[in-house]
Amino acid sequence: MPDPLLEAALQVRERAHAPYSKFHVGAALEDSEGRIYTGCNVENASYGLTVCAERNAAFKAVSEGARRFRRIAVAADTTPLTPPCGACRQVLSEICGGDIEVILVNPRGETESLRLRDIFPRAFNASFL
Ligand code: THU
Repeated sequence: MPDPLLEAALQVRERAHAPYSKFHVGAALEDSEGRIYTGCNVENASYGLTVCAERNAAFKAVSEGARRFRRIAVAADTTPLTPPCGACRQVLSEICGGDIEVILVNPRGETESLRLRDIFPRAFNASFL
């Protein structure tokens, strides 16, 4: 049975704006009520301004009022599957409470389920401030 979260990540990946890297990524974040927020990577000619798919989805979700999250799916056309970059792990850790399921997927239907706490241990967070 297809998982709507994975389908959403694969679908939004097609909207990636990646003329420089040509590397298209999609992300879909599910909140505690089952709502889905999507994002793709959006690159810029001033390379450092690029925003990854995961952060785009997370910031959209917060902007729409979502606060508690269950899972995020990340879609890219790679084998092995593409995990979130370090900056996105930091942002997901704060916004999603340190430990959500991170599901990697590619257009061939290969998937892998990870926990954020396993790929981002000992996070810096507000408790240190
Ligand atoms: N990218 C993402 O959107 N998410 C990731 O997890 C890895 C990298 C984007 C950033 C840039 O637009 C392109 O992929 C190449 O790094």
